[in-house]
Amino acid sequence: MPSTPPAAPSSPRTDPGSGFSTRAVWAGAAAHNPGSATVMPVSLGVTHAYDDITRWREVATGRRPGHVYSRNTNPTVEVFEAKVRALEGAEASTSFATGMAAVSSTLFAILSPGDRVVGIRDTYGGTDRIFNEFLPRWGVEVVLCDTGDTAAIEREVAAGCSVLYLETPTNPTLKVLDLRRLATAAHAAGATLVVDNTFATPVNQNPLALGADLVLHSATKFLGGHSDAMGGVVCGSEELVRRIFHYREINGASLDAMSAFLLTRGMQTLELRVERQNASAQRIAEFLSGHPAVEAVHYPGLVSHPGHEVATGQMRGFGGVLAFQVRGGNSAMEQVVTSLKLAHRAASLGSVGTLVGPPSLTSHVELTAEQRKSLGISESLVRYSVGIENVEDLLEDLERGLRAV
Ligand SMILES: Cc1ncc(COP(=O)(O)O)c(C=O)c1O
Repeated sequence: MPSTPPAAPSSPRTDPGSGFSTRAVWAGAAAHNPGSATVMPVSLGVTHAYDDITRWREVATGRRPGHVYSRNTNPTVEVFEAKVRALEGAEASTSFATGMAAVSSTLFAILSPGDRVVGIRDTYGGTDRIFNEFLPRWGVEVVLCDTGDTAAIEREVAAGCSVLYLETPTNPTLKVLDLRRLATAAHAAGATLVVDNTFATPVNQNPLALGADLVLHSATKFLGGHSDAMGGVVCGSEELVRRIFHYREINGASLDAMSAFLLTRGMQTLELRVERQNASAQRIAEFLSGHPAVEAVHYPGLVSHPGHEVATGQMRGFGGVLAFQVRGGNSAMEQVVTSLKLAHRAASLGSVGTLVGPPSLTSHVELTAEQRKSLGISESLVRYSVGIENVEDLLEDLERGLRAV
């Protein structure tokens, strides 16, 4: 059968439209893929060949767009980066092998020994280790404030720092930080504001529009959305992202093409999934708050949540993760968790399937029980990441699980 020569790949579409899902589907997509395929290829090549040495030199020295070696840039990875950039409304973006690589590369790229960084006590456990274990060893002064005390954060920032690092809502107790107010404080002190937006997703919150300088994600969670690929990403100005990209290309925590393909495929349905997860999480949080077997529920969509008003002013939805405290301590919690039929008892969050687990075994396993207690993470706290299942089924499952105690 005669074959048609493949159409030459062309440059990405520059105007993907303004609607969220329109951008999620079209941003970064090439106008023509090889062979006129409607889906982008997975560019597994590690290296890119040049017969023309002048052209090779121009690409290798950054004077002409193109690819040389996949630790630096890769065509499939570039599409993933373009999509996140479009969804976060950023000038530039770069990607990483994991969310932790995004967190650590960002901090190590923009901080120097002797600098002072202000952060909050409630961050993802891995991030907490960067602050408490690695940055101090590297000669960076770290000040972690009570997450609920915005005035204390402002005071520490005003005392001088080069970076203010926030996560909102926080993992796993869903605390909410006022990004507009803290961006003003950071900029008055000449600091760079970095925000981990993993829990909110760009569907619910765009930190750059609220004043942040850099926004980062564990793409392993909601962005990919299927628990089948790991990745991380940071977005911000050309100037900042160029420095972080350079750190990553040399230190080597680069996203691979296969993961970039899976994450990019997942991101096309991000809005559909997150809208569903927002609505289901709200129903579940309301159900749990009225349940006699539940002592406390942490979800910013609840009017009783201390951050509800701030969340309403900066988020378009409250997200798909909540945490709850089972009455009766550890054994009651274990009974509830093991009775659930529609949840993977597993680490991670943000997937199409509901994921449930105690932070003492997942996000904060690296901390001691004492350290967790000081953060309000009791051993019987349950983190519940709502999937896209039918919410009536999830409610029935939870009701059955709670009846077990
Ligand atoms: C808020 C937050 N940031 C960063 C990370 C790290 O992401 P990864 O596991 O992809 O390295 C996680 C992981 O759970 C997280 O929850």
